[in-house]
Amino acid sequence: MPFQTPLAADVTLRELSKDDAAAIADAYLRNREHLAPWDPARPEEFYTEEWHKERLWAQVVENSTGRALYTVLESDGAIVGRLNLTDVVHGAFENGHLGYWLDGQFTGRGLMTRAIEALANHARDEVGLHRLQAATLPHNEASQAVLTRAGFERIGFAPAYLKIAGKWQDHVMFQRILHD
Ligand SMILES: CC(C)(COP(=O)(O)OP(=O)(O)OC[C@H]1O[C@@H](n2cnc3c(N)ncnc32)[C@H](O)[C@@H]1OP(=O)(O)O)[C@@H](O)C(=O)NCCC(=O)NCCS
Repeated sequence: MPFQTPLAADVTLRELSKDDAAAIADAYLRNREHLAPWDPARPEEFYTEEWHKERLWAQVVENSTGRALYTVLESDGAIVGRLNLTDVVHGAFENGHLGYWLDGQFTGRGLMTRAIEALANHARDEVGLHRLQAATLPHNEASQAVLTRAGFERIGFAPAYLKIAGKWQDHVMFQRILHD
């Protein structure tokens, strides 16, 4: 059964589908300015359906193999956010990385906190993971508030960790251990 859960009366968290390319391109276009400080620099082609079609295929395949769980937040047929569990490793690590963003019209309602909680429960109970990791820019207070509320703790500081908005930028590292 594909992963799916309601987050609010008007918003559902569900597994990515290969048919989401047009809606995802549209969401990135609507949120271009909102996401610019927190995302990698994007080429113009990024805002087209064609760009996402190919990549979505690869992500849907990764979902089917258990290497990742790419999900979207959907409202009334539109994509209003993404939440991705990637780089899933089993064995002695049982770990995955989280990445996420929300449409500027949907922030401040606790949606991403609920989405992360739902995905973390699924990662523990269905995927068998032991730990989730996430990284935020030091000044991304909204993202840090979400992680803290979703049970993550700050574990460190990684200099020049990711190339965001065209610059290698320091990040604060968070983890949540899923089993007591
Ligand atoms: C980070 C993000 C996903 C948060 O989603 P959200 O659904 O609005 O989060 P929630 O409503 O669950 O919680 C937001 C919290 O941050 C706080 N917050 C929001 N904007 C803030 C700001 N500019 N400064 C400080 N705190 C802020 C809110 O008050 C809330 O905390 P509170 O309920 O304790 O007051 C969303 O803002 C977003 O997509 N931002 C742009 C992309 C991004 O930063 N992605 C994450 C990269 S690590």
